[in-house]
Amino acid sequence: MQTATELEMLRTTVARLRAGGKTLALVPTMGALHEGHLTLVREARARADRVAVSIFVNPTQFGPNEDLDAYPRQMSEDARMLEAEGVDLLWAPGVGQMYPDGFATTISVAGVSEGFCGATRPGHFDGVATVVCKLFNQVCPDLALFGEKDWQQLAVIRRMARDLDLVEPRADAIHGVPTVREADGLAMSSRNRYLSPEAREAAATLPRAMREAIARMEGGDDVQPTLASLEETLLGAGFSQVDYADLADAASLERLDTLGPAPARLLVAARIEGTRLIDNMAVGQK
Ligand code: PAJ
Repeated sequence: MQTATELEMLRTTVARLRAGGKTLALVPTMGALHEGHLTLVREARARADRVAVSIFVNPTQFGPNEDLDAYPRQMSEDARMLEAEGVDLLWAPGVGQMYPDGFATTISVAGVSEGFCGATRPGHFDGVATVVCKLFNQVCPDLALFGEKDWQQLAVIRRMARDLDLVEPRADAIHGVPTVREADGLAMSSRNRYLSPEAREAAATLPRAMREAIARMEGGDDVQPTLASLEETLLGAGFSQVDYADLADAASLERLDTLGPAPARLLVAARIEGTRLIDNMAVGQK
């Protein structure tokens, strides 16, 4: 595995990897890798000849009171894991490389960025879109893989890639990978390690309560009261705050008050012990 920290070396390595018409997949990450990330890497291996992974804790997607400084950083351990997965290229730029002095450009994706995490984390998706656009321009991948765990992020990136012609417009150039979960159902996240053992146990209420709410809605219960009782269950289990618990159109992310024929998604963000956890699941049509 080649590790590049400067653009010149990245370009040379990408050219070498692409020689002979080989395809290249990119998996963007912020490091602190877990099985969720590694599943994206394995899926990338299956879909392209060469695999590049980026690790960059992107300051512009963290709000002023968020966990940028505390965010786990473990570059050498991450590099070992990627090497073991047969990754060809690790792109690990510094902040100065990504945001040179005088940096003044922001990409903002209207619509899909606005509700949910966009409402509770102002500026977050501008930071994500801007850094992912840069990563695409730097690595020039044929395809890129993202987790469904961050459903809204996936929608934002798909919209941006389509609007700005960032990848060839073929089906699945932005490939979404289903959420990888712990044995008790909690979605894997680099932030789970912030939780005390008690909070970690209570956190499993999130996917459990979501599944229950989905079963109720699919069984014909009204959406709003079901979402209200989901919220109550979370607060009763030790969550301190529910940022949102909503049903939305799976593609446009417009809020829904009833289950219709179009694919829907239950999206939740809730805080426990100061850690913000997000999850989302498909809701069957009625
Ligand atoms: P990060 O949180 O490190 O996640 C990197 C990728 O792994 C994202 O596409 C995310 O959706 C996916 N992922 C995380 N946990 C997952 C899980 N349990 N199952 C499946 N996929 C999972 O998301 C980011 O970084 C950043 O916003 C980034 C896109 C790199 C831009 O900075």
